[in-house]
Amino acid sequence: MTDQNRNEKSNDAKTNKSHAKTRPVTAIVLAAGKGTRMATSLPKVLHPCGGKPMISLVYDACKKAGIEEVRVVVGHAYQLVKSVVEPMGAVCCLQAHQLGTADAVKSAQVDSLEGDVLILNGDHPLLTSQDLVNVINEFRSRKLDLAVVTADLKVPGDFGRIVRHMNKLKAIVEAKDASAETLKIREINTGIYMVNSDVLKDYLPKIKNNNSKQEYYLTDLISLAIDDQLAVDAIKGNGRMAFGVNNQVELAKASAHLFRQKAKSLMEAGVMILNPKVTYIEADVKIGSGSVIYPNVFLKGQTEIGQFSVVEPNCMLIDSKVGNSVQVKMGSHLEQSVLMDRSHVGPYARLRPGSEIGEEAHLGNFVETKKVKFGKRSKAGHLTYLGDAEIGEDVNIGCGTITCNYAIDKKKYKTVIGDRVFVGSDTQFIAPIKIGSDVVIGSGSTITKDVPDRALAVARGKQFVKENYVSVVETSETHENQNIKSE
Ligand code: UD1
Ligand code: CA
Repeated sequence: MTDQNRNEKSNDAKTNKSHAKTRPVTAIVLAAGKGTRMATSLPKVLHPCGGKPMISLVYDACKKAGIEEVRVVVGHAYQLVKSVVEPMGAVCCLQAHQLGTADAVKSAQVDSLEGDVLILNGDHPLLTSQDLVNVINEFRSRKLDLAVVTADLKVPGDFGRIVRHMNKLKAIVEAKDASAETLKIREINTGIYMVNSDVLKDYLPKIKNNNSKQEYYLTDLISLAIDDQLAVDAIKGNGRMAFGVNNQVELAKASAHLFRQKAKSLMEAGVMILNPKVTYIEADVKIGSGSVIYPNVFLKGQTEIGQFSVVEPNCMLIDSKVGNSVQVKMGSHLEQSVLMDRSHVGPYARLRPGSEIGEEAHLGNFVETKKVKFGKRSKAGHLTYLGDAEIGEDVNIGCGTITCNYAIDKKKYKTVIGDRVFVGSDTQFIAPIKIGSDVVIGSGSTITKDVPDRALAVARGKQFVKENYVSVVETSETHENQNIKSE
């Protein structure tokens, strides 16, 4: 646009109000489509990408970019989408029939909008908050009324084509409506727009549905506003911003991208990741420098790992806290659990919610814990179930120990064990039960009564030995066939 043009326009209060930084930005996220090519009954935007529903990635990017209000246009399976989106803080707007992208925007209660509006698709999970900040800033610094974010693609595919005349933006033409010549254009519409809310209110009603799909195309906004000489232009984005998920293959690609990016930023901060291609670390996970992550590890949700800890192959950690110099050995599964500094668990340990493993403590193979406080330096080396228990420091839990926490009344009961207790192998604690400190429990005991400090408790059948129980003659007969001679 020429300077003269711009001056003329500045008289137009409606379209050139104030582009001050204080103008609010509202985001409208289009998410009413069905996503037929996903080939599942789950609405497209709820498919998880890098561990989170796609729509929440787009929502988070908007929020991190400083956008106060995010309106999500829902339609297909809207109740399900709403149940995910509203708790995040988004406003849901129902588009009753999917009549096209312009109709979708119309459904977002456009009349109540003020300031500037960012319009984007709910199925673009690779958008970052920085991308959005860049678009908003460029829109403002160039004092535009309407902008479309474009990208140059080697394979422009089904994207709408950016048509220019003498290098100036003219229109967006949908691939389905484009001539062979237009289809050769490699600059495409990413589906991201910035627009002055007053312009949006004026021009949305002017969009008609006279195209091959008989849909109301939001893209028509561009040519309509250009015709009226508003300040309309393209903002250059990139292929990643244009990347939309339409099928499971693209979903997997997007997830892989997010996991790779996350691994890269962790590696830059000193985390050793043996093979980032096969490591699945979600966005919110934190890991301290010097820690080592082996292949095929899944770190999910709000998991945090300290420094110099090691997570061996095939482990899954969900919302768990791991301290410094901790070893999580191969094949372990942790959920809402805490591992204090220098503790080690596994291989094949299963820590269910509420497990808190003390410093330098050890859980070995096939040990399952749930709602357990396990004291400093205590050990449970093998084949053990500890549920609803409080176990002191320096306790040794022998192989095959079980806290019998679940009773016939379907209630859970607690086992409390003091410090320095030695529990012989194959012991069952019938909860509720309390064991003092410095206690010794004989192997094979079924402990049903509380045990005081420093006591020995043995609860097993006395060993009975009857000598010469089996007669020599009998033995010889039994083994006759095997030619064993009797004396
Ligand atoms: C749209 C653009 C195209 C652009 C591409 C980028 C139009 C007409 N075309 O095409 O220029 O290159 O996005 O991805 O806008 N939606 C609704 N309600 C509707 C229709 C669509 O909410 O009635 C939502 C969809 O759920 C989706 C988004 O809008 O999130 C885009 O719709 P889609 O049908 O995928 O548009 P494209 O054909 O990809
Ligand atoms: Ca699309």
